[in-house]
Amino acid sequence: MKTLFVSLLISTLLSLSLSQELCNSQDKKVLLQIKKHFGDPYLLASWKSDTDCCTDWYQVECDSTTNRIISLTVFAGNLSGEIPAAVGDLPYLQNLVLRKLTNITGPVQPAIAKLVHLTSLRLDWLNLTGTVPDFLSQLKNLTFLDLSFNGFSGTIPSSLALLPNLLALHLDRNKLTGSIPESFGTFKGSVPDLYLSHNQLTGEIPASLGNMDFSVIDLSRNQLVGDASMLFGPNKTTNNVYLSRNLFEFNLSNVVFPSTIENLDINHNKIFGSIPPQMTQLPLQTLNVSYNRLCGQIPVGGKLQSLDSSSYFHNKCLCGAPLANC
Ligand SMILES: *[C@@H]1O[C@H](CO)[C@@H](O)[C@H](O)[C@H]1NC(C)=O
Ligand SMILES: *[C@@H]1O[C@H](CO)[C@@H](O)[C@H](O)[C@H]1NC(C)=O
Ligand SMILES: *[C@@H]1O[C@H](CO)[C@@H](O)[C@H](O)[C@H]1NC(C)=O
Ligand SMILES: *[C@@H]1O[C@H](CO)[C@@H](O)[C@H](O)[C@H]1NC(C)=O
Ligand SMILES: *[C@@H]1O[C@H](CO)[C@@H](O)[C@H](O)[C@H]1NC(C)=O
Ligand SMILES: *[C@@H]1O[C@H](CO)[C@@H](O)[C@H](O)[C@H]1NC(C)=O
Ligand SMILES: *[C@@H]1O[C@H](CO)[C@@H](O)[C@H](O)[C@H]1NC(C)=O
Repeated sequence: MKTLFVSLLISTLLSLSLSQELCNSQDKKVLLQIKKHFGDPYLLASWKSDTDCCTDWYQVECDSTTNRIISLTVFAGNLSGEIPAAVGDLPYLQNLVLRKLTNITGPVQPAIAKLVHLTSLRLDWLNLTGTVPDFLSQLKNLTFLDLSFNGFSGTIPSSLALLPNLLALHLDRNKLTGSIPESFGTFKGSVPDLYLSHNQLTGEIPASLGNMDFSVIDLSRNQLVGDASMLFGPNKTTNNVYLSRNLFEFNLSNVVFPSTIENLDINHNKIFGSIPPQMTQLPLQTLNVSYNRLCGQIPVGGKLQSLDSSSYFHNKCLCGAPLANC
């Protein structure tokens, strides 16, 4: 009698705990499909059909009220193959992060277009190829888009400027060609931090970019030509500008810098004129104007004399401390 009662109690508790599984069964099915797609990898070993994806699985997160999967984050490990279409069947996903998985190949999975709640899409340090897809512009809630360190080619879709909430766009370290879209001077809402370095971008910076007040803009290591002075101006609040190793050619004497500039790297271009005296007023942490065609005396004051001479060397006729006297 007593044993019966105890075993009844135990089985009641057991079924209670089973019925209390939080994980949505459809989400679980999809996640197990994803695991199977990657060949049951060690990295996803915690994804077991008899445990609760909301409480027992790594790399995923459930919403605390709806218990739907809102985050899938896989970082550094051995997954190989393409991104499976099943990721598009996690309809409440807000964060999709696949990072440093160099055996992930193929395109940006088109089914990602279905994930309208995405705020953060980070597919970086993979081996993805193909183009940066236009459909990303439909994911209106994206605040963070990072496709850096892949093998993407083709041009940058101008439709990305339609993302109204974007705070950062990382397309650096790919093989992108063509020019910077004119539309990048018309980002509605927030002005994103813009990282386009280490690509094969050509042409001039569209004049429209002068309308933007970037906090960070990194265009280094491309083949961009012409004027870049529209990125500066007295009324901006820009902190970091990286333009090194391009073919920019403009007169630095006439540039008025935002009073907020902390890091400025313009090395290896064809920039001429002289260093404006206003530069002594800037809260500079780093400055590199080396390998250009600058001339004249380095203005005295602020941080300018405390920098290494390599910040200034290989110009046409720059002089004064920390370089040789004029
Ligand atoms: C990628 O796949 C190759 C071939 O299967 C394997 O040798 C290598 O270890 C994998 N790389 C990583 C980072 O796991
Ligand atoms: C990565 O996975 C592949 C295929 O599953 C396997 O051949 C390889 O040995 C693994 N590499 C490492 C470093 O675990
Ligand atoms: C991934 O990219 C690295 C570096 O770009 C390359 O050395 C490697 O062969 C690529 N791996 C695959 C599986 O494509
Ligand atoms: C986008 O974000 C806003 C504000 O957080 C939210 O109200 C809206 O439901 C979101 N839209 C989608 C499709 O998730
Ligand atoms: C900066 O703002 C001032 C005051 O609003 C305005 O007069 C001036 O034209 C602006 N300068 C530039 C280059 O936009
Ligand atoms: C650069 O602009 C300054 C100021 O307008 C001017 O004096 C100088 O001649 C220009 N330098 C060159 C090389 O055109
Ligand atoms: C400036 O850039 C040049 C060229 O890349 C480099 O050799 C030098 O070390 C840099 N100097 C500083 C202080 O970063």
